[in-house]
Amino acid sequence: MLFGIGSFLLIVALGLRLTFGRYLNHLKEDQKKLSAEALKGYFNWLGGWGKSYLKLSRWDKSLDYFISWGQKSYRSWTVWIFYALALSYLYLSLSGIFFAWFISRGLFGFPLLLHVACGGLFAVSLMAVLFLRARIYLPLSGGEGSKGAPEVAPDFYCLALNRYLPRIYFQAASFWLFVLAGFFLILSTLGSMLPYFNFPAQILFFNLHRWSAVISILAAMLALDVIIVKPGQAG
Ligand code: HEM
Repeated sequence: MLFGIGSFLLIVALGLRLTFGRYLNHLKEDQKKLSAEALKGYFNWLGGWGKSYLKLSRWDKSLDYFISWGQKSYRSWTVWIFYALALSYLYLSLSGIFFAWFISRGLFGFPLLLHVACGGLFAVSLMAVLFLRARIYLPLSGGEGSKGAPEVAPDFYCLALNRYLPRIYFQAASFWLFVLAGFFLILSTLGSMLPYFNFPAQILFFNLHRWSAVISILAAMLALDVIIVKPGQAG
């Protein structure tokens, strides 16, 4: 119950914050503030944006964008590692969250088998992506836009402080948080699958796995916003 409500609120809150930031990008500098008018405009925009995903062509366009981002950001065949990570992650997060939210018995049967199989692919591709990309997100590296990466993105507008903060901070935070949560996801599964721990420890690993999944999803959402989708683009 606590997990269901907590994870739902966190995911929705970050989703609203990130989409609100995207909406503000379309406004003039002096209109970029939290006001009733901005919120009204935002919900209208959000409705239209959500509705556009009812069309298959919109999904097609988003997928094309994602594929070409991968091709621009990874050299030759290494892009397949990124696609493997993205595909396995998509299944892991959707299956995990769906069963945790809607099925009281939790993950079981074929979806669980596929979850564990995709987990293996996820673990291997995450390690490879770490080797390929980590240096871009190290301190003083410059982030996306440096070292031949696609383009230099403008700074990230922070509503609370009412000023722009360097986008690389958010890129690095999302990347390292995603990697760290990935480690906890892998370790917690190993802990609960290996026969070395007693029942209370298994419960602890199960909860660690679930909460690491939420942190990982939040990091992935932030990464999508600050690294992958172009700043001026609605998504
Ligand atoms: C690292 C590779 C992964 C492996 C090997 C793995 C494996 C597992 C296993 C075996 C379970 C069932 C636990 C149990 O019932 O005791 C589980 C549950 C779960 N997994 Fe994963 N997982 C992995 C990655 C992920 C990722 C990346 C996410 C989401 C971002 C995720 C989300 C979840 C969630 C939310 C549950 C709980 C579902 C429920 O309440 O029944 N997992 N995972």
